[in-house]
Amino acid sequence: MRYGYFDDERREYVITTPETPYPWINYLGTEDFFSLISHRAGGYCFYRDARLRRLLRYRYNNVPTDVGGRYFYIHDAGDVWSPSHAPVGAPLDVYECRHGLGYTRIAGERRGVRADLLFFVPPGHTAEVHELRLRNTDSWPRTIKVFSFVEWCLWNAHDDMTNYQRNFSTGEVEVDQGGSTLYHKTEYRERRDHFAFYHVNAPVKGFDTDRESFMGPWGDFARPRAVVEGASRNSVASGWAPVASHGLEVSLAPGEEKVFVFTLGYVENPRDAKWEGDKTGVMNKTRARALIESFSRPEQVEAAMQKLSAKWTNMLAQYTVTSPDERLNRMVNVWNPYQCMVTFNMSRSASYFETGIGRGMGFRDSNQDLLGFVHLVPERARERILDIAATQKADGSAYHQYQPLTKRGNNDIGSGFNDDPLWLVSGVSAYVRETGDWSILGESVPFDNDPDSAAPLFEHLRRAFGHVLGNLGPHGLPLIGRADWNDCLNLNCFSETPDESFQTTGNRQGRTAESVFIAGMLVAVAPDYARLAEHVGQGAEARRARAAGKRMAEVILEHGWDGDWFLRAYDFFGNKVGSKENDEAQIFIEPQGFCVMAGVGVAGGQAKKALDAVKERLDTRYGIVLNSPAYTRYHVELGEISSYPPGYKENGGIFCHNNPWIMIAETVLGRGDRAFEYWKKIAPAYLEDESEVHRLEPYVYAQMIAGKEAARHGEAKNSWLTGTAAWNFVAISQHLLGVRPDWDGLRVRPCIGAEIGRYTVTRRCRGAEYRIHVKNGGGGRPPRLTVDGKPLDGDLVPYAPAGTTVVVTCEA
Ligand code: GLC
Ligand code: GLC
Repeated sequence: MRYGYFDDERREYVITTPETPYPWINYLGTEDFFSLISHRAGGYCFYRDARLRRLLRYRYNNVPTDVGGRYFYIHDAGDVWSPSHAPVGAPLDVYECRHGLGYTRIAGERRGVRADLLFFVPPGHTAEVHELRLRNTDSWPRTIKVFSFVEWCLWNAHDDMTNYQRNFSTGEVEVDQGGSTLYHKTEYRERRDHFAFYHVNAPVKGFDTDRESFMGPWGDFARPRAVVEGASRNSVASGWAPVASHGLEVSLAPGEEKVFVFTLGYVENPRDAKWEGDKTGVMNKTRARALIESFSRPEQVEAAMQKLSAKWTNMLAQYTVTSPDERLNRMVNVWNPYQCMVTFNMSRSASYFETGIGRGMGFRDSNQDLLGFVHLVPERARERILDIAATQKADGSAYHQYQPLTKRGNNDIGSGFNDDPLWLVSGVSAYVRETGDWSILGESVPFDNDPDSAAPLFEHLRRAFGHVLGNLGPHGLPLIGRADWNDCLNLNCFSETPDESFQTTGNRQGRTAESVFIAGMLVAVAPDYARLAEHVGQGAEARRARAAGKRMAEVILEHGWDGDWFLRAYDFFGNKVGSKENDEAQIFIEPQGFCVMAGVGVAGGQAKKALDAVKERLDTRYGIVLNSPAYTRYHVELGEISSYPPGYKENGGIFCHNNPWIMIAETVLGRGDRAFEYWKKIAPAYLEDESEVHRLEPYVYAQMIAGKEAARHGEAKNSWLTGTAAWNFVAISQHLLGVRPDWDGLRVRPCIGAEIGRYTVTRRCRGAEYRIHVKNGGGGRPPRLTVDGKPLDGDLVPYAPAGTTVVVTCEA
């Protein structure tokens, strides 16, 4: 069952009913002001940090579902409704929500009044703009009342939930222009130099800034007293819950349309210019007024929208495909890279599954996200790499997370996730391959943000690689530490106490638990690292790294091979994890993917066996589960993984993040049709018809789909902020469609199976454009290429000078 459709022309997903299975959301903002917005206008916005600089309040845990947002109410002769359906919930004659690239349009119509809402964050501004277009579609004139509504939360959003005895007494506002501009200035009197405002470009009939006055005692969002009675209270908040609501009266002749522009803005003042002259207590509003001026007319809104659209068009032009499969095209050309950019902006902080209050940026997560956005915003990727590297510890290990505002490593979580350091090598390699900017290796970067420790970036990589090699266990495999990629495989934790963190509690100091996944990753990363070392003249280090990679591949085959697939780990006691000797979880996905991607066992046949075992034991109708059979009881020696009921999350869930490792591994063996089959199983556009099962947005990936042992097999959770976005983009664009930037040229090696016969990829890279026309037989044979009409030896199309266009044909 569907709840909407893709409008490919306009690059939008169109939701045609407010009653989707879950709030289906979009993100606004491209620089430092961001918003989450659901198809019912729920959500919130923030400047840089969703905990410390959040403008709007939001309520969690889905009861009632999706409460808090930018709400509009229409009072039409006693009939009250909302164009976005929420919060009133009155039935609409017309409803439509269009989530586009950085904007959302919601249209609602009831009894002859149509309201078209446009929400977006204009590039270069710290504000959400809400354009409201009202039209009388009837044949008689009418006068309606319109109320806007937002609820402020511009203080610490964590305190908002835990220490509200404080903010019930701190709330302060200012009312300006007769109520057309409503300022929120809580805590501005003391240490905040920033504030928020909500403005409408028209005179108002009334306003409210105090929630209870607006709602009435025991009132709620659906039926606020001011709206029901059709009269704002002109309330001025003092403590309790400051809000902003404009009350407008609008007369519309038959067919007439009127447009209003609302600006929800965030402003920072210099400390010495906080106040307006010597009128102590009155905020300096110069900057706010300038921002308001920028969107006082619909033409300005239109111009900003064009700028936004051009920005996306330009970004997405870096990689496009034209194929006979429209679902493939829309995933690759629009939605997957769009999601990658959202992970660039949000990391794992603010979604409809993460509060924006808890987690910082992950060291491993951010490096992986980079694989998916480096071609879209290479300069910002460079900056991101340097930020991440500056949190690395001097011994080469890494803080697992860092804070976006301070860019410092997070001491509460600390380090000891032993795969983390290697991801920095992957991130830097991807960046250099994309840009050819080797200079980044010489960039001076501190360790743990200590300026005295600054060293060239390459030195960070050397210590990263060295850290893994310096921490091997009894079999010569890397020690796992607190966990590896699988945060929930905690082999030194042994937690018996509820509420203890599985990730940060280490009850045993063991040097036995080893990870075959990290081993595979080391083998995969070693040649890249060696290449970087050669470039900076460290030939001996490069040779050592290559030798270490080779050796590790042998160790894997000797101690990490279970006979039919790769083992997952050795636990604290030296027992096997992910082996046919185990009664539960005999096989895991991660080592099969990474070892084969690294080439381990390809020559000896183990790789093929391992992938066939994946097919047989892990594959399901909705994707590949993480392990099988799932753990049915808690294993204290394994940690969080066995805390999840069977079929969920890391315990037998379909973790979409590492499904692409298997897809890429299949292409290593030349089995493109299998790779494409796997890709289609989890690509959201292919799940659109099953939205009642999948339940989440059909335009973006979710982190997890419930596995075969779960009660609700096929149901997705945790959409948007997941490494799934980057890895699936890497898989489909670089390995299946087969166009990937390498050190000295674009590697063109399609492996997508016979279903997609002919296609064209247009790739912009290092300033040149490559038009690659592929005739695909699906056989996984070495491709035959021509470049500008001349036959090419091999599959590496040399980089062309910036500004040129190269035409490539490829028969595969
Ligand atoms: C989550 C985490 C990621 C981890 C994965 C598996 O997606 O963000 O860091 O690798 O779970 O546990
Ligand atoms: C990852 C996992 C999640 C786990 C968390 C702990 O995000 O997906 O299951 O609870 O790590 O940090």
